[in-house]
Order: sequence, then C-alpha cells, then structure tokens
Amino acid sequence: MNITRVKSLSGTVRVPGDKSISHRGVMLGALAKGQTEIQGFLMGADCLSTIECFRKLGVKINLYSDTVVVKGLGLRGLRPPIHTLDVGNSGTTTRLMSGILAAQQFTSKLDGDASIRKRPMNRVILPLSEMGADITSDGGNGCAPLTINGRPLHGISYTSPVASAQVKSAILFAGLYADGDTAVTEPYVSRNHTELMLKNFGADIRVLGKTVTVSPAEELYGQTVTVPGDISSAAYFMVAAAITPNSEITVKNVGINPTRAGIIDVMKEMGADIKVEENTRADGEPSADITVKSSALHGVTIGGETIPTLIDEIPALAVLACFAEGTTVIRDAEELKVKESNRIDIMVKNLAAMGADIEATEDGMIIHGGKELHGAVVDSVKDHRVAMSMAVAAMNADGETDLIDAHCVKISYPHFYEDMQRLT
Ligand code: S3P
Repeated sequence: MNITRVKSLSGTVRVPGDKSISHRGVMLGALAKGQTEIQGFLMGADCLSTIECFRKLGVKINLYSDTVVVKGLGLRGLRPPIHTLDVGNSGTTTRLMSGILAAQQFTSKLDGDASIRKRPMNRVILPLSEMGADITSDGGNGCAPLTINGRPLHGISYTSPVASAQVKSAILFAGLYADGDTAVTEPYVSRNHTELMLKNFGADIRVLGKTVTVSPAEELYGQTVTVPGDISSAAYFMVAAAITPNSEITVKNVGINPTRAGIIDVMKEMGADIKVEENTRADGEPSADITVKSSALHGVTIGGETIPTLIDEIPALAVLACFAEGTTVIRDAEELKVKESNRIDIMVKNLAAMGADIEATEDGMIIHGGKELHGAVVDSVKDHRVAMSMAVAAMNADGETDLIDAHCVKISYPHFYEDMQRLT
C-alpha cells in the first residue's frame, strides 16, 4: 500500500470492539448455561478464529452485524472435535483455549499460522501440567501444534514469571474445573477482563493485589456482554491526532479499563492534549469518548508496572516518540519480542528506514525524537499492529511510503484504512 503525508486529521471515529473482551465473551458464552449475547463484537480474523474453534466443539454461534449470539453448552457440554482447531494468528485463542481444553474429557489439537507456530506456549503448558494437564507440543519446541488430552485437574497456587493476561486466563479457566481453589500471582497486574467477566457469569473469583483466586464452578450463566471500543485500535487515531498538525480526533466509546489505559497517562505525560469523557456502565469495564488535539510533545521513560497496561500500544507509542522532542526510553518490554512478530526489532528497523534516530535494547527501545521522517519501503511482517503504526508514521513523512502486507489489519481492525481516510 502506498501512503503519503496528510495535511491534517479531523472528525469522529468509532473503533471496533475490544479484541480481548470479544474473545472472552465467546469462550465464557460457550461454557455457560443458556444464551449469551455479545454486542459490539469485534468481527476481526482473530475473534472469528475463536468462534470457528468453538463451533467445532459443538457450540451454536450466530453472527448478526456487530452482535454474536452463543448458545452455551454448559461447563461440561463441549463435544470432541473431529478436526484440528485452527487458531489462525491468535495467541489469545491458543492460550486461553488450552486452559479450557486441558480439563475436557476428550483429546483436541490446536494449530495456527506461521507466526503462531513460533510463539512460546510453555508459559501455559507448564502451569497447566502442574494442575495435571496432558499437553504436548507436537514439534517438541514448546510451540503449536499442541495436542491436549483432557484430564481431571487439581487446584494450584502459581506464581507466573510474566505479567501475561493470557497465562493468567488459561489457568483461571482450567481452575473452573479443578478439585480445589486455583490462585495465580503475577509480577505486575495484567489486563483483568477475564476476572471481571468470570464474576459476571457467576464464578466465585477473588482478587487480592496481584493474586487472583478462582474456585471450582458447578455452572456459569449466559449473559449480555457489551463490548466497548478497543483502546488498542483507538491508539492509532490518538497518536495520529497528536502528531499531525492542526488535527483533532474524537474516538467514541473506548474501553478505559485501568489495566489497559496506560497510553492515556503516558501521552498526557508527553504533553499530548487529551480529553477523556467517561460514559456510565455497570459491568466493571468503563468506557469514554477520547478527544486528542495536536500539540508539542516531549520524550519520557516508560517501564515497570506501566508496561502491561499499554503492551499492545508500544508500536504506536514508538511512532509518537519519533515526533517528541528529546529522548524516549521504553524498558521492561521484552514481551514485545514474542508477540505476533518481534515488535522491538521490526519497529526499530522500519522507523530507522524512515530516518528516525532509534535503537533496539534488550528489553525495549530508545528513541531520540524530533528528526523529520521520510518515505521508505516498510514491512508489516504481517503483524497488524506494526502495519497500523507504520501507516500513521507514513502519514507524517515526506514522500511516499510503501507498506508491505498492509492488509493484515484484518486481524483486529478490518476497516482501519477506510476509517483513517475519512478523517483526512
Ligand atoms: C491479551 C493479552 C496480551 C496482549 C494480547 C491480548 C489477552 O498478551 O498482548 O494482544 O486478550 O489476554 P499477554 O497477556 O501474553 O501479554
């Protein structure tokens, strides 16, 4: 895709539903008794992979524009799948479903695309095995394809070496089927959508600091889930408005759960002009209309417990930092190396090709902002967040940028380019 500089951006946009909440809505809906209606569902490739997997497990799921209706089979109602479950590009599907499938009375196989086949699965295989699960990585490399032989599970207390909501959620889902309480402690609190949704579906779940404990469940009960807009998708518009001259964008109905909203505080600290108008909701998942205007920006240091609250927004923040005076340091973010791509390496390579003063570190990157960017050939390496971040950079660079594999945005934001185009 060819992208050139835009003069300014203005208007209002509604981004698609939150990816994490959409996945969890299907999963808990499938395991609940009765019907679950998910409004504002993200019809992106990742969440559609989750739907297809549960259909293969016997769950009836209907799609209507942005609503999904799941006819739950109850905690013990899934049926043995005939074929391998295809998770596509979705790490969330792979890891969270591993926790569910580990406890079933049948064998299943999970497999996905080339990126999924490189992503570390031992982080869920190890704790689930401690619970009694029987999961093997077919290639013996700790990655998919995975064969999961369902087993009776025991409750454990697990201290996770990584702050990962995917690891935490896999263990909590398995814990629903265990013979006693299951507790997970993280080094820093990661996104808590699973905890909130499990509670709404009737599970007995308690949170104390960085520890979450779930009790075995008899039954979960179908709910209406209202999915707010995904802050990870809103991030591209927030950054674009901040760095494009004379711009003002309002993103409506964005989820601002505190475990996800780190980008708002960091952008404010960098000098961004941001207004957050909160809407009222009752399910523990707050949402807001976010308005960002262009302004002068300066560099900051981002690290520690903030990282899990903006982990998926770091590619977009790297672009923002190129337009901020002074130095931005991103540290404690080694998890970026095991996302859909190695996001440290590819963002540094792409932004350097455009003329940015940027270097990779062991656990993040250092960006000396304020250098003019110029058009270049940049590669998304089929990573949706890299594609959208580089599109925003290209819109603020001299000359033409050729973005390779731009279409991979279908993973989380199928109409991204059209929505951005409308604001130019
Ligand atoms: C997700 C958690 C995060 C995030 C991913 C979605 C989730 O991964 O990067 O896009 O829905 O639980 P980790 O939990 O592995 O950090």
